[in-house]
Amino acid sequence: MLKDEWLTPPAIIKALGEFDLDPCAPHASRRPWDTAKSHYSVEDDGLAQPWHGRVWCNPPYGLEAARWLERLAAHGDGIALIFARTETAMFFDHVWDKADALLFIRGRLHFHHVDGSRAAANAGAPSVLVAYGQRNKQALHSCGLPGFVLNLNSEPVCE
Ligand SMILES: C[S@@+](CC[C@H](N)C(=O)[O-])C[C@H]1O[C@@H](n2cnc3c(N)ncnc32)[C@H](O)[C@@H]1O
Repeated sequence: MLKDEWLTPPAIIKALGEFDLDPCAPHASRRPWDTAKSHYSVEDDGLAQPWHGRVWCNPPYGLEAARWLERLAAHGDGIALIFARTETAMFFDHVWDKADALLFIRGRLHFHHVDGSRAAANAGAPSVLVAYGQRNKQALHSCGLPGFVLNLNSEPVCE
């Protein structure tokens, strides 16, 4: 996956409930549907903008993703969709001891293109939803998406 414009399957966002902000979305003229009540695109640079309310974050891929997870963890209210690369520095720095719950999605997602069509191939890797804040933890438990929910925020046994 080299391009950034891989859109979240809309059924996932629908199942998780309404979001106030998607800070990394295609521009309004290029997206097939809204993912939140307000959006920032690459033209705005969502990382340079103030964030508010309940945030949806399927971040740009690659090393850049860590900066978005760091920002969401600091914001403390939202859900991220990332690859379940649980061994990475990003996961250890911004997920394992900062998030409140995870939903490991069963199977592999088919992301969507900006024309709204579903990609023929699956993402090639497992995905996980990462919840920050109690209402988002609750959403992972009640959303009905297929997978396994893991509550976090217990004391790590070792560093
Ligand atoms: C993986 S896609 C997810 C799109 C959408 N949030 C969703 O869930 O369907 C990542 C998006 O981040 C956008 N993006 C990349 N850099 C950005 C930046 N600095 N500020 C805002 N958006 C950015 C890309 O254009 C792309 O639309």
